[in-house]
Amino acid sequence: MKKENILITVALPYVNGLPHVGHIVGSHLPADIYHRFNIQAGNQTFMIGGMDSHGTPAVIDAKRLNIDIEYFVDKMKELHSKIYKKLNISYDIFSTTHTKTHFEETQEFFNLLNEHGYISTGSTKRLYCETCKMFLADRFVEGTCPYCGKTANGDECEHCCHTLSTDMLKNPKCKTCGTTPILKENTEVFLDLPSLQKDLDKFVETKRNIWRPTVFSEAKRLINEGFNKRSISRDINWGIPINLKGFEDKVFYIWFEAPIGYLSITKELSKAIYNDFWVEKNDNKIVHFVGKDNIQFHGTFFPAMVIGSKKFNNAYNLAGNCFANYEGQKISKSKRVGVFCGSLLDPNCNVDIDVFRAYLTTIIPEKKDTEFTWADFKQNTNAELANKLGNFFNRTINMINSYLGGVVECDFKEPQNDVEKVAFDLLNTLPNEICESYKNIEIKDAYKKIMQLASAGNTLLEQSAPWAKYKEGDLESVKRTLYLALNFARVITILFAPICPSKMTEFYNNQLNISGSPLESGILEHINEKINNHKVNAPSPLFPRWDDKTLETIKSELLNFKDVEDFLK
Ligand code: 2FM
Ligand code: ZN
Repeated sequence: MKKENILITVALPYVNGLPHVGHIVGSHLPADIYHRFNIQAGNQTFMIGGMDSHGTPAVIDAKRLNIDIEYFVDKMKELHSKIYKKLNISYDIFSTTHTKTHFEETQEFFNLLNEHGYISTGSTKRLYCETCKMFLADRFVEGTCPYCGKTANGDECEHCCHTLSTDMLKNPKCKTCGTTPILKENTEVFLDLPSLQKDLDKFVETKRNIWRPTVFSEAKRLINEGFNKRSISRDINWGIPINLKGFEDKVFYIWFEAPIGYLSITKELSKAIYNDFWVEKNDNKIVHFVGKDNIQFHGTFFPAMVIGSKKFNNAYNLAGNCFANYEGQKISKSKRVGVFCGSLLDPNCNVDIDVFRAYLTTIIPEKKDTEFTWADFKQNTNAELANKLGNFFNRTINMINSYLGGVVECDFKEPQNDVEKVAFDLLNTLPNEICESYKNIEIKDAYKKIMQLASAGNTLLEQSAPWAKYKEGDLESVKRTLYLALNFARVITILFAPICPSKMTEFYNNQLNISGSPLESGILEHINEKINNHKVNAPSPLFPRWDDKTLETIKSELLNFKDVEDFLK
């Protein structure tokens, strides 16, 4: 297989607030699994991310907490990093947009757009609070959403996910003091999206068969609706100063500079990697992982900026997900609906991360919205991990020890009966299908097929009944069955390792007794090879079953809500 170079970007989380499970399944976890798989496939792969550190949310939160904003963003980066580390998310770099590199990158990007004629200035009537004596950017104002009628911030509606501008809000109020703002003339910088629309449409058309249908149709819908010139200046003092005469006291709109963070964070990782992916024209692939509410910016606004730069490369793929809900409700911090990842940082939180990751994998909202439920979490742990996969591993290692002194040695050339044939065929075909699913970022599909392999392994054991053959003295049959079972176990371990990296590494080394890592670079080139004349170690259960009491303990640990305040004391 031809080797590829892949750069994975994960949506940069806003600095205000800690992630919840919706964020994890929406971007970080699928990106991590895809990263690990590509390394296994021998592709040179990098994964980058970091904090989206500017904008009004940061200002509002630092003010609310009464702490220095620089300290606040540093602390948030530290907390986010700890959470992703705990979840075993394999970032090559997790940085922030509050760096010198990013300031420079943004201002240079802006210069390119300006040189190519995509920047203009003008004056517009904007909301102004006479009490606070300031123009009310984005989240400094709230009002009624013109689309759904619910309360929305000035930049977006959390209920219906429409991007808004402050002038679209009905009945606006200053969020700081509650005053109804007046309209006042303000000078602004605009990005000329209408001039970029045609080239953007051409670009998006090339993605018809690459982007997921949900992502492609959303981008097309927005393009067909048409664009207005977009204001990219904001009247706040936290962010990147606009490098244009007369606008130096304003900063760039957060959605203008945040995606440029992908470039600057790559540059921080390595100048060579930056050039290789963002500048040079080659077959390298950038893949964005984003949640549903980020699809429009990554599918239209940012690619249009990239086109306008006439220098940088656009991403190859945009893995945009849908929403994950929680027990029938939309995840909401204010209503405490959901699992919030601050709980993972409590030293008393003992939830097994691989078991958690495995369940979360089953609710990655790839094609439609999904649902986190405790009943499904328990069901997945018991029925899939313990009864299907764990049980198969355990029986296999156990029987190799009991019947063959721990050593599988078998001259297996071809199947000799129907049971062997079914198993042998699956062993030789399903792994390639699983790799295809991973490659197409259909991770849930990969998961299902891995479980299918484990089921096939169990069926092989049931139908061949090595325990009976052993009693009958048919050692040849026992060897043949356990040779197949051992090879099933090896293949499952490698293919499941991107999802459960720790458990699979442990099983691979300690029980299968294979040296190296199931996640090592290029290992998938050997996936169809068979092991033979191999000694395994002693069995030990990998995935314990949960009873109701265990579930209650895990539930209370994960629902132990901890917010920013709890870590700032
Ligand atoms: O939705 C969010 O959390 C945004 N901060 C995502 C930004 S992604 C990128 F553009 F930086
Ligand atoms: Zn005010």
